[in-house]
Amino acid sequence: MSETISFFGKSFIKYILSEQIDTEIGRLAAEISEEYRNDDPILLITLNGAIIFAVDLLKRLDFPCRISCVKVSSYCGTESTGSVKGLIGLNEDVRGHRVLILEDIVDTGRTYQHLHRMLTDAGARDIRIATLTLKPDAYKNDLPVHYVGFRIPNKFVIGRGLDIDGYGRNLNDIYQLATSNEQ
Ligand code: IMP
Repeated sequence: MSETISFFGKSFIKYILSEQIDTEIGRLAAEISEEYRNDDPILLITLNGAIIFAVDLLKRLDFPCRISCVKVSSYCGTESTGSVKGLIGLNEDVRGHRVLILEDIVDTGRTYQHLHRMLTDAGARDIRIATLTLKPDAYKNDLPVHYVGFRIPNKFVIGRGLDIDGYGRNLNDIYQLATSNEQ
């Protein structure tokens, strides 16, 4: 695998190695297993991005749980459109249950806030989030982000589920958008 990769004329530089990602997911899985062991939670996978993180994490969880896949979208290209669209596919009754949202990335936190509101309205007992990556400098939300794999700068990244207009999700490492003097 090369150190740089291009999509749509933009260069991305290898940033977090697959081995580091696997180690962090192992750490998160241990923490999450400890927290939810006796609670029969519902794990909410936000499609499409979280699917790869979710598969890697779920294999390492050692407690009984159910999963539900939902679809939310707020981005177009490399810049936020600023609006969160609807939520499709919540097919488990979350009333009275603990819910753990799985995300590939939390950026401004708008998607998380939106999901949190919908799950609260649906009667979830407790709502937490586990995300592979968080951009603390972009985060504009008061809700706590409970489980974080990597805190990253406010730069666009792809790989491990993260995409640029649909591409890059299947990269095993995470790549960061190169600034003009790095290209
Ligand atoms: P938020 O609602 O601003 O937290 O953004 C969450 C969504 O924006 C994620 O689920 C991604 O789809 C997208 N997003 C934010 N930053 C990035 C990035 O660096 N790479 C790819 N997608 C991103």
